[in-house]
Amino acid sequence: MHTVNTVEALRTLINTWKAAGNSIAFVPTMGNLHAGHCQLVKAAKEKADKVVVSIFVNPTQFGAGEDFDSYPRTEAQDHEKLRAINTDLVFQPSVSEMYSPDAKTVVSVTGLSELYCGAYRVGHFDGVATVVCKLFNMVQPNVALFGLKDFQQLAVIRTMVKDLNMPVDIIGIETVREASGLAMSSRNSYLNQAEQQLAPLLYQSLCAVREAILAGNDNYAAIEQYSCLP
Ligand code: PAF
Repeated sequence: MHTVNTVEALRTLINTWKAAGNSIAFVPTMGNLHAGHCQLVKAAKEKADKVVVSIFVNPTQFGAGEDFDSYPRTEAQDHEKLRAINTDLVFQPSVSEMYSPDAKTVVSVTGLSELYCGAYRVGHFDGVATVVCKLFNMVQPNVALFGLKDFQQLAVIRTMVKDLNMPVDIIGIETVREASGLAMSSRNSYLNQAEQQLAPLLYQSLCAVREAILAGNDNYAAIEQYSCLP
């Protein structure tokens, strides 16, 4: 497994692979990898000849007061996991490699980024769209894989790729869950014991709502009251 920290080294290696006729699959991450990320890499291996994974905790997608400084950084363990599943290349740039201090361009998927999660995390999806756009320009992959867990993020990226005619196929991969049903996430480590027991009940409540609707129940006022919470 190769590891590179600069755009120049990344491009040199990828150009060599492309010149030899290899296709490239790309999995962008912020590290602290879990089974969900590994699932993306394994799926990527089936889509292309070479798999590139980026590890970059992107400051522009964290709002003021969010957890950029304390976001878990687990480089050694991440590399071990990626090596075990035959990742070809890890791109791990510094903040200064990714962003020049005088950068002025922001990618904004308006009308979508302000909704739902975006209403509470102002600027978050602009940070995501901008860094993913930059990473796509650096890696120039044929396909890129994202978890369906971050559904709004996936919608923002799909829209950006369509609107800007980016030549990359975006593939969404099913959420990997703990035995309790809780979606795997790097931020689950923030939950205390009581919260760890409570969190899966949100998913169980959503599943109960889905089952009711699929069974033909259209009493939505009653369904809105469904809750597995104590
Ligand atoms: O989903 C993530 O981990 C991040 O938002 C991404 C796509 C790597 C961009 O920083």
